Amino acid sequence: MQIKIARDYQEMSKLAADIIADFIKAKPSGVLGLATGSTPLGLYEELVERHQEGLDFSKVTTFNLDEYYGLHAEHPASYHYYMHEHLFKHLNVPKERINIPDGANTDAASECRSYEDKITAAGGIDLQILGIGTNGHIGFNEPGAPFGGTTSLVNLALATIEANSRFFDKPEDVPRQAISMGIKSIMNSRKIVLLANGESKADAIARAVEGPVTEGLPASVLQLHPDCTFILDQQAAKKLTHSRR
Ligand code: GLP
Repeated sequence: MQIKIARDYQEMSKLAADIIADFIKAKPSGVLGLATGSTPLGLYEELVERHQEGLDFSKVTTFNLDEYYGLHAEHPASYHYYMHEHLFKHLNVPKERINIPDGANTDAASECRSYEDKITAAGGIDLQILGIGTNGHIGFNEPGAPFGGTTSLVNLALATIEANSRFFDKPEDVPRQAISMGIKSIMNSRKIVLLANGESKADAIARAVEGPVTEGLPASVLQLHPDCTFILDQQAAKKLTHSRR
């Protein structure tokens, strides 16, 4: 695992955008795995700028990590809505190449199976972007999620419901479940870039990088990935031992 420590959030976002831009230039028909949350917003702004300067997304395929279960794509707190507003409406990724789990599909099992099938049919994910929850979750794989898991309907941890209630009018509106790519689906990606900023992530980052590899801290599995880079701001990196910084 490689650790890059940026001066601040903006530099973290730029470093991640550089990796994506270089990847797309090298493989215009590449498959990108995308994340939501507040962490990648700066990265998405950067990508929009680079597209305006000529970076072409017309052959790219994307897969999002997750979606709240029970929310329609038009719901303003859905990840469909988020992705459209912050990224896709500004880029030229063809609609049919954008994949996000359908949180409104009442047959969750079939939705999960077909999502995995689509990833396989696309040739797997080349470059997966991740954020991290304060409890170490990746995607919506909460502590205890099996390392062998593929896309499935998952229950959200209380900490996650509380952290994400800021995006909803009332805490009781936050869905309790989500469809998420599993740890195995994520680990199958050829390259992984995890972004984290702010002090609230420092504990999870230190445990993910330096703690034991355990299902109790989902991001710790990334220690086993052959090509994984963490890009952190100073705050998120501050609990790493000095030799790492
Ligand atoms: C959400 C998402 C994750 C994201 C995490 C952190 O629950 N499912 O993919 O990484 O929360 O969010 P934020 O970036 O807002 O801190």
